[in-house]
Amino acid sequence: MKNWIALLLATISMSLMAQTIGDGPIVTSHMDQQAMESGEVSLDEILQAGEHLFRAKFNTYDGQSRPGTTGGGAAREPGTAPRFIRTSAPDSNSCAGCHNDPAPGGAGDIVANVFVLAQVLDPVTESVSPDFSNERNTLGMNGSGAIEMLAREMTADMQGIRAQAIADAASSATDVTKTLITKGVYFGSITAHADGTVDNSHVEGVDADLIIKPFHQKGAVISLREFTNNAMNHHHGMQSTERFGVERTGVDDFDQDGVSNELTVGDITATAIWQAALNVPGQVIPNNFTKARAILRGERSFTTTGCADCHVPYLVLDNPSYSEPNPYNPPGNLQVGEVDHVIEFDLTVDGFAPRLERTSNDGAIVRAFTDLKRYNLCDDDYNHFCNEQLVQGGVSVDEFLSRKLWDVGNSAPYGHRGDLTTLTEAIHYHGGDARASRDAFFALPQNDQNEIVEFLKSLQMLPAGTEHLVVDEFGQAKNKTQVRSSIEQSSQSTRIQP
Ligand code: HEC
Ligand code: HEC
Repeated sequence: MKNWIALLLATISMSLMAQTIGDGPIVTSHMDQQAMESGEVSLDEILQAGEHLFRAKFNTYDGQSRPGTTGGGAAREPGTAPRFIRTSAPDSNSCAGCHNDPAPGGAGDIVANVFVLAQVLDPVTESVSPDFSNERNTLGMNGSGAIEMLAREMTADMQGIRAQAIADAASSATDVTKTLITKGVYFGSITAHADGTVDNSHVEGVDADLIIKPFHQKGAVISLREFTNNAMNHHHGMQSTERFGVERTGVDDFDQDGVSNELTVGDITATAIWQAALNVPGQVIPNNFTKARAILRGERSFTTTGCADCHVPYLVLDNPSYSEPNPYNPPGNLQVGEVDHVIEFDLTVDGFAPRLERTSNDGAIVRAFTDLKRYNLCDDDYNHFCNEQLVQGGVSVDEFLSRKLWDVGNSAPYGHRGDLTTLTEAIHYHGGDARASRDAFFALPQNDQNEIVEFLKSLQMLPAGTEHLVVDEFGQAKNKTQVRSSIEQSSQSTRIQP
């Protein structure tokens, strides 16, 4: 008996020591969702934990690897594949291993590409083949909190229009057709029948459920939280309890790697909030007069050439607070009904600077250069963007979200595959829905084309902590109205409209 107790004590002290010296988990303390909801944990502490989780190079003590799970989250027999298969990407041990350009949370070079959907088949040996996966380039998450909130407001608008059409059709006993316009973006129309059914055949650029899915270049994921749950399992073999825990799956240690409850609900909340709170991209207008003039003239031609029809320069958020979790989260992700309090912060006040500008009626301006709608950029002459063969999330292989351009000046390479090295090449391949705009661009004199490119180069992720959204090359505030009037003074013939 005495020996047994001695052995137990020795084992306990050994395991305690193992935690302090030698190998051990990278994430040594986990976040408690209740404490976060009640406000015991401050936003700063949440952001610190979120960044730590995003940068953590997970190891086997954390629960990295998933012998019992595919990257898509389905069960598989351990031993039928290596402990961890890196077939869906060269892959990385941390989120920041791919999302690091120009800083953690940012975009990635082509080396950080992912073979999207290979994870649902793993082990596949030919994951780089287009028969098995869609190769995609790493995106930056700067400003993604605002993007998620825009998508939620647009979804609520469109579902409201649908509910009204159904009510009107029932009360009038006739078909009622309504146009789906939210924040000025046109998503086709729906027709409600008197019996309560709805004809979605004229809905465009969004799924029939009218939920805007702003993440993945395809527009296939609803929230940062859903993406985080997917990416943690897929890239790192790190399972969240909200998706893989015993309460949901009935299985302890679902991926059978010897570690249970790898990421708490609070850990996923912190990782999502950190991404949502990242500094939003801004604009760099150098002090050099020729460059500044080119940028402002290019900004104007961007609109007159039709680029702004899809890459809408700004959308307005009615309510500037970000809240976690998202009310449209699919199952397997924390639901609003499961929390006592949603965790909220104001995107114009909290998080990393620079932040969104506030409007006079307490909204916020989001200058993301997208309308969050899907388009097909292919026709008989240009079909570069229609290289994919695998359907993701039920969306046509040829459609992609009009790409956010607010960080395009420092997130090369370009295109969903990251296989284009210059901005002009990316514009060159705009066929299909963008053909008229593309042709208008190439019909411009070379200098005017260069001005549009110079304008695009000015849209950048600024270093965290930059105090203004529009700055010169030294990070000092730049007043666009002043720049505009000095250009006008210098040349009466080239007037720049505000
Ligand atoms: C192997 C590289 C790689 C790793 C590791 C990685 N990502 Fe990504 N991430 C990508 C790529 C590539 C995309 C673009 C996917 C697409 O468009 O289909 C992306 C997209 C995203 C997006 C959507 C951005 C948008 O605007 O659509 C989010 C959010 C995200 N990743 C979060 C994470 C988190 C959180 C982790 C860690 C748990 C992570 N990623 C790990 C490569 C990676
Ligand atoms: C019909 C809508 C539409 C119009 C009009 C349009 N675009 Fe696009 N743009 C897109 C879509 C969709 C993508 C994503 C393509 C892909 O990678 O699959 C995109 C991607 C881009 C990219 C690549 C960004 C990156 O980071 O990879 C640039 C640059 C760009 N557009 C600039 C322009 C310019 C300049 C114009 C006007 C001459 C223009 N676009 C007109 C829809 C449009």
